[in-house]
Amino acid sequence: MEVKVFGVVGAGQMGNGIAQVAAASGLDVIMNDIAEEFVQKGLGAIDANLERGVSKGRLSAEDKSAVLARIRASTDINDMAGVDFVVEAATEREELKFTIFRNLDAVCPPEAILATNTSSIPIGRIAAQTGRPEKVIGMHFMNPVPVMKLVEVIRGLATSDATFDLTWSLSEHFGKTPAQANDYPGFIANRILMPMINEAVYCLYHGVGTAEDIDTVMKLGMNHPMGPLALADLIGLDTCLAIMETLNDGFRDSKYRPCPLLRKYVEAGWLGRKSGRGFYRYDRK
Ligand code: CAA
Repeated sequence: MEVKVFGVVGAGQMGNGIAQVAAASGLDVIMNDIAEEFVQKGLGAIDANLERGVSKGRLSAEDKSAVLARIRASTDINDMAGVDFVVEAATEREELKFTIFRNLDAVCPPEAILATNTSSIPIGRIAAQTGRPEKVIGMHFMNPVPVMKLVEVIRGLATSDATFDLTWSLSEHFGKTPAQANDYPGFIANRILMPMINEAVYCLYHGVGTAEDIDTVMKLGMNHPMGPLALADLIGLDTCLAIMETLNDGFRDSKYRPCPLLRKYVEAGWLGRKSGRGFYRYDRK
């Protein structure tokens, strides 16, 4: 099966990044979200990213226009009727993803593959919402999508070899390096990353160090490109909390207990960069 039309559900920071790399690789893309405002914001982010490439001489103005022209904006899930492959990149809430997958299963052609960019919800649980669990797979991109090389490809219990092989080669077609993970809470990336971030929040909570000192230790002491608290702000503290809850529920092991300070920040609406405040303050755009 060849992929020509690629759908993305969700035009947020992950969804618009995925739409950008897919369109840059030559595919026709339909980027869907529930409101025009969200889709336009996503298109604006893609435009700004591509423009940065143009100003740095990596991309011609014609190529930028061609990439943008390959992305169709949509606010109607029925537009996914013509896709060969779709990635869901909505908010990390199980019920929301279930609804989207039930809708996609009803709308998309029977041979289409339904992938999820979930960072931690079990693929098998999402696949069970559809009548085609063998065509459901995890395709987990990293943030910022245009920059990060990895795609974690997660096999559910029922995922077929054909679905896996196509997702793997599509990741390579996007210029990414895929890695295979099996379907356990957090897969590989977040099973390792989130407890580290959560522990950094505990360090702040216990007063072991300031946010700046915690991040400096990890940046300069361990050569991480950014500190764990700045990274949490980039990912979104609500997403970090949701992933810790998934690990905690999935393993029932107290080592995955979300830090109360992380929960407190999320409850206060301090979600990181996207809300203008997290462990650090950001200028609102
Ligand atoms: N979108 C597109 N491009 C971006 C970008 C964005 N949001 N942010 C930065 N870039 C580009 C810049 O344009 C720049 O490109 P050039 O070098 O070609 O000019 C390049 O990335 C480097 O950016 P900067 O010089 O501004 O800053 P930097 O060197 O500190 O890099 C970073 C920024 C790439 C974000 C780097 O700090 C980094 O790699 N951080 C760690 C990111 C990470 O761990 N991501 C995974 C998060 S976990 C996840 O996503 C999964 C999950 O489920 C939670």
